Amino acid sequence: MCGIFGYIGPSADKARASRLCLDGLKKLEYRGYDSAGIAGILDGKIQSSKQVGKVALLEELLERSKVPTGATVAHTRWATHGAPSTGNAHPHFDTDKSLAIVHNGIIENFQGLKNQFQNGPFKTDTDSEVIAHLISRAYSGDLLKAVKEAVELLEGSFALAVVHQDHPDEIIVCAHESPLAIGKGDDECFIASDAHAFKGQNLQVAFLSHGEMARCSRDHVQVFNSRGKALDKPFLSLNLKDEILSKNGFDHYMLKEIHEQPQTLQQALDGRYSDEFGTAQFEELKFSAQKVKRILILGCGTSWHAGLLGASLFESLARISSQAEIASEFRYTNPIIDQHTLVIAISQSGETADTLAAVREAKAKGAKVIGMCNVSHSTLTRESDHVVFLRAGQEVSVCSTKAFTSQLITLALLALYFARQRHMSKEDGQAFLAQLKNLPLKVRQVLAHSKAIEKVAIKYSSFEDFFYLGRQYMYPTSLEASLKLKEISYLNAIAYPAGEMKHGPIALVGPALAVVALCGNQQTKEKMLSNLMEVKARSSPILVFASEGETLFDAVATDIIYLPSICDELASIPYSVALQLFAYFVAVEKKTDIDQPRNLAKSVTVE
Ligand code: M6R
Repeated sequence: MCGIFGYIGPSADKARASRLCLDGLKKLEYRGYDSAGIAGILDGKIQSSKQVGKVALLEELLERSKVPTGATVAHTRWATHGAPSTGNAHPHFDTDKSLAIVHNGIIENFQGLKNQFQNGPFKTDTDSEVIAHLISRAYSGDLLKAVKEAVELLEGSFALAVVHQDHPDEIIVCAHESPLAIGKGDDECFIASDAHAFKGQNLQVAFLSHGEMARCSRDHVQVFNSRGKALDKPFLSLNLKDEILSKNGFDHYMLKEIHEQPQTLQQALDGRYSDEFGTAQFEELKFSAQKVKRILILGCGTSWHAGLLGASLFESLARISSQAEIASEFRYTNPIIDQHTLVIAISQSGETADTLAAVREAKAKGAKVIGMCNVSHSTLTRESDHVVFLRAGQEVSVCSTKAFTSQLITLALLALYFARQRHMSKEDGQAFLAQLKNLPLKVRQVLAHSKAIEKVAIKYSSFEDFFYLGRQYMYPTSLEASLKLKEISYLNAIAYPAGEMKHGPIALVGPALAVVALCGNQQTKEKMLSNLMEVKARSSPILVFASEGETLFDAVATDIIYLPSICDELASIPYSVALQLFAYFVAVEKKTDIDQPRNLAKSVTVE
């Protein structure tokens, strides 16, 4: 994982390279923020600085140290091999520090490669350092050739950028199942793991494809394929506007993003339905649902949870056999996919390595893929056959909130779209659409309960262990709600289908364990009540979230929060918003780093 940034430009403005690299790294911090570093060329030598922690700390360090002026590369890290430390921070060097590399990805055969070096030149615990030594060993004056030779020995996924003291005017880059964008400006050149790091610059941008390399100088970029043949790569203007990020008066981006949901849900709906025909419409999709016999949804983390809910919607509304699979597991199952299987890959970032690998496997088996994504120009949008955007706006907090509810509403629209092409009547379509259109209002009503939710969150923040229980649509909702609590409060929160408790987990129930019960589905509410009775009999406090007017749970609830009622299929949206608030307020009590929790990254770019 990690973010790479690099710059070469005129050397008149001595601080420009490091300033732009720091700015670029800040935009890439969503890929990791354990440590950061920079290296370039100053007076014919590699000059570097590294720092544990976020990019802001590297920035402070650079104010007190020499900064590189020539070709410069920089890196923000999410530790895979080796602890987050200054030593393990990138860039990495060869023995005499004649070159520096920054790497995103994992070198799977690093141990075998390291064993080739008799004299043990390694100073770090990383898999990446070996790349610097391999390039150095292959180097005899032509940096591109040396990088090519080294890269041919590597197994795994990687994007690399390399600078060498003998070549102050060039950066060599390559991409191998990891993204790398190159931006050409007026007498300057940028490289980055993600083109969004170029925001604010007026650049012509190209993305390296798998196996490609490039020699970048300030006025020329030459791209080569894996055999070393020069390519005529098109560079395009992407219209990447720099957005001024602001918390808008909220204490955290997470809280701001939770509060944005009435608006983001509305954006996801806008222009995507027809009242007259009681259906959804997607300009971006041009195929008939009649041919789709099976839907396979792929995603990780929150996006997988959205997929679980989506699969239930496709089955219940459109009567299409559907499954959601965790992308990291899917590709190792030798999945059965035929031409009637439609794959929907869900990813907020569009850069999750496991999801991309799963998409490639599905495509290799002949499937057509709809990418459901929040970020334009991401790898998923480039690799999918069709793209449906979430329209949630930039999500800054590592803990996903508004992207999740946008995924749910978009999946619900898609389920309606398929259902109406099959057997759903216009009247039933209109009734479902009316509920969908009501969601922004329902979520506004949930937000109005913030104070009550904060109060119970403060009360329950003293517990160390939580069970989140739900049935039917509320089970995936509880998976997502418990993930929110884990991520930002670092508390142990396990989600279970309530009916499964008696098959084992109930052994853990007792006064020291708090149960959060999501009771938003009408069809299973009596069953849910029985399961909660069994918990109450064993003395766990129970925090119930139930629909307004529902009295069934009063007998079991230690505390109860009432939420606006809506049909079972869509209840996950208002309930998720309430549970996001609950996790947020617990984390406030715990005084954690809410927007950038420990050990996490916004975009997980390694498998
Ligand atoms: O960008 P993606 O949607 O592909 O990311 C998938 C997961 O890494 C992500 O949802 C993660 O679980 C979030 N931190 C959850 O809040």
